[in-house]
Amino acid sequence: MQKQALVLGAGGFIGSHLVKRLKAEGFWVRGVDLKFPEFAETEADDFVIGDLREQSICREVIDRRFDEVYQLAADMGGAGYIFTGQHDADIMHNSATINLNVVDLCHKRNIKRVFYSSSACMYPAYNQEDPDNPNCAEDSAYPAAPDSEYGWEKLFSERLYLAYNRNFGMQCRVARFHNIFGPEGTWTGGKEKAPAAICRKVASAAQGGEIEIWGDGTQTRSFLFIDECVEGILRLTRSDFEGPVNIGSDEMVSINQLVDMVTEIAGKPLRKRHIDGPLGVRGRNSDNRLIEEKLGWRPNQPLSEGLKQTYAWIERQVRGNR
Ligand code: NAD
Ligand code: GDD
Repeated sequence: MQKQALVLGAGGFIGSHLVKRLKAEGFWVRGVDLKFPEFAETEADDFVIGDLREQSICREVIDRRFDEVYQLAADMGGAGYIFTGQHDADIMHNSATINLNVVDLCHKRNIKRVFYSSSACMYPAYNQEDPDNPNCAEDSAYPAAPDSEYGWEKLFSERLYLAYNRNFGMQCRVARFHNIFGPEGTWTGGKEKAPAAICRKVASAAQGGEIEIWGDGTQTRSFLFIDECVEGILRLTRSDFEGPVNIGSDEMVSINQLVDMVTEIAGKPLRKRHIDGPLGVRGRNSDNRLIEEKLGWRPNQPLSEGLKQTYAWIERQVRGNR
């Protein structure tokens, strides 16, 4: 019998890529979101425009037929959205309400396999102050001290899904994503993350010009290409391991290095102007020991490969917008 999957947040970046992959695997897929995907038509068999904060919508879209449910809907964005403090109440209220509704309805409809997307933003700020040696091992989560309300909501919600496992025999799976990037991701408007923002700035700059970088550029991160993220989601969901587990790259770079990689791909040497901006933690890198141990798999694609595809796509968007 054809397998059936429900993707919540299917109009977003990761959700829309996941729908494509599930369709390629032969699934019947229902997507739900406040909006359709922005950059390509959805491949879902059924796409419901609906607000998952509403219990009535959750009752309508979550039904017993689903073998797998992927919960990616959230109020989220990059540093320019989550670290300004201006959206804290919305982020906490919107995402927590979605998660409370979704996990309870899945339980009541007897759906066992539910994937939940947490974030590296739940790790304590005190372990991410040294840009060269951040600690993001899964067991370093406590004592909890995320540096954003977004991170606190993620921590609460991952505990929520795991509580349903313990008390109701569900098989929820929890991943902590580390900065996912790729084509068809948000690249402008204020919610974009560093890889997309840098690609946009480089593509928009005049030859020999300069681009603005938030902070001194020595803050570090790792960035995971979308295809490897989707691979990790499916492997974890179908495994016996509930998590939480990091899904991220362990190729840590400084933001200055990220800029240099993009300018090289673009063939456009540019000056960097470091300006004030929302910064987040000083250093972050995915620790991939646990995923390797539990799933026998870890992401391994070089950052430069994903950046080439992403830059080419964003460059086309920038040209189209001129
Ligand atoms: P995204 O913003 O592109 O997708 C999220 C989708 O959720 C959006 O399309 C949005 O419209 C939808 N949504 C928000 N509120 C909704 C509501 N009330 N009802 C229905 N839909 C609603 O983000 P993404 O990058 O695809 O991220 C997917 C998930 O992964 C999110 O939970 C995010 O917090 C998590 N995550 C992403 C990253 C990353 O780097 N992209 C990192 C860590 C965690
Ligand atoms: N967005 C952005 N835009 N960031 C910039 C820019 C710019 O133009 N210039 C420099 N940066 C710096 C930010 O100041 C930050 O220090 C770093 O690049 C990374 O910023 P983001 O990619 O926006 O976010 P993040 O890594 O701090 O957090 C992201 O990853 C988490 C998971 O690891 C966010 O997407 C979170 O929502 C996500 O959960």
